[in-house]
Amino acid sequence: MYIDSASKAQLQQWESELSAEFQGFKNQSLNLDLTRGKPSAEQLSLTDNMDGILSGNYKCQDGSDARNYGGLFGIPEMRKLGAELLGVKENEVIAGGNSSLTFMHLCFVFACLYGPGGKGTQWHRERIPRFLCPVPGYDRHFSICEDLDVKMINVPMTANGPDMDEVESLVKKDPSIKGMWCVPKYSNPTGIVYSDETVERIAKLGRIAGPDFRVFWDNAYAVHDLTDNPPKLANIMDLCKKHGTDNLVYQFSSTSKISFAGAGVSFLATSTANLAGFEKHLFVLTIGPDKVNQLRHAKLFPDLAAVRKHMRKHAELLRPKFEAVLDHLRKNFTDSDLGTWSEPQGGYFISFNARPGLASEVIRLAGEAGVKLTPAGSTFPYKKDPENRNIRLAPSFPKVAELNKTMAVFVNCVKLAAVRQQLGNP
Ligand SMILES: Cc1ncc(COP(=O)(O)O)c(C=O)c1O
Repeated sequence: MYIDSASKAQLQQWESELSAEFQGFKNQSLNLDLTRGKPSAEQLSLTDNMDGILSGNYKCQDGSDARNYGGLFGIPEMRKLGAELLGVKENEVIAGGNSSLTFMHLCFVFACLYGPGGKGTQWHRERIPRFLCPVPGYDRHFSICEDLDVKMINVPMTANGPDMDEVESLVKKDPSIKGMWCVPKYSNPTGIVYSDETVERIAKLGRIAGPDFRVFWDNAYAVHDLTDNPPKLANIMDLCKKHGTDNLVYQFSSTSKISFAGAGVSFLATSTANLAGFEKHLFVLTIGPDKVNQLRHAKLFPDLAAVRKHMRKHAELLRPKFEAVLDHLRKNFTDSDLGTWSEPQGGYFISFNARPGLASEVIRLAGEAGVKLTPAGSTFPYKKDPENRNIRLAPSFPKVAELNKTMAVFVNCVKLAAVRQQLGNP
């Protein structure tokens, strides 16, 4: 279906057919939801054997008792796993509580209040600190900035990651820019994996930015591959060391979508100097993380190979769901001027770009037909998609049959909104 070259009569005919189909969906009183970027119950069940795995043995590798206070940086077993996961040394990573987002928020708050490099580097000494946000991106990153009054600057994503010409030029000319969000592997929502060149240019940012500049490297999908031959992400820590920018990056990850979402273990990896600064404030905040949960994870996942083996089972459950969504998109929009989409090799999302100006209308129509989609603008700072076209699709939670119904409605709404817009009746 090509809208731009269609005659008025053709558009009118499509409008009437699509409206009838839309009404048919409405009559079915559907109640479907494509917003939930979380694991399905089947995926969660893959980890059910963690229940009772300790069998009353709470002793950690270093002889400490997981049930008691202490161990601010987490148990050695989990620090080792975090080191393997993020490609750092064991003394460059700490294992925490159930959420990497909490670590991100803490790093941000500490940087604002105390400075990432100690006294004199506090971000909130600046009248308005600014932060670079590759778009589309993860809404909760943007919420942290908004919550802390840090002004967000959009940076376009390319197929290789953030537009680094733009990033370097902004960082060079504006010292009030204090850092950048990155989801380097299977970026949320585009699924893009940063190229080696992009990772190296990011590692080199520490040479042109001030000592208070930090990259928040959220590697949430480090092992969430859908294919057998997944792309490999360059090691940011190694590259920082190569370029003498060791303190530039805070890396984050967690087992939220490996074991239990909401009951996993989080990781923060950074230079030992940064960790020492972080420790001073973490020490005030808590006596230690939930080491019992960490030990349960360590028993189930003694090394990264065990995690990878486990993630292949996740991939088996997820692959047909991604394929179902992609199948609808390919069949309906490959030969069209109605939209473009990502075909990720991992992660949790598919990113769809409708014709400019139409995301909110597609989402509104879908809602009317009983399909909940992520609100328009969610993937942009301040919930403002300048082109009003990006829609985040989350295939993981519904069953394949539900996804097929949902996508039939979605496709109808994308077409109907486009045809009506072209007829001057958006
Ligand atoms: C990019 C990204 N980072 C972090 C999270 C949340 O991680 P956690 O559960 O460890 O807080 C998500 C969850 O969807 C995510 O997509």
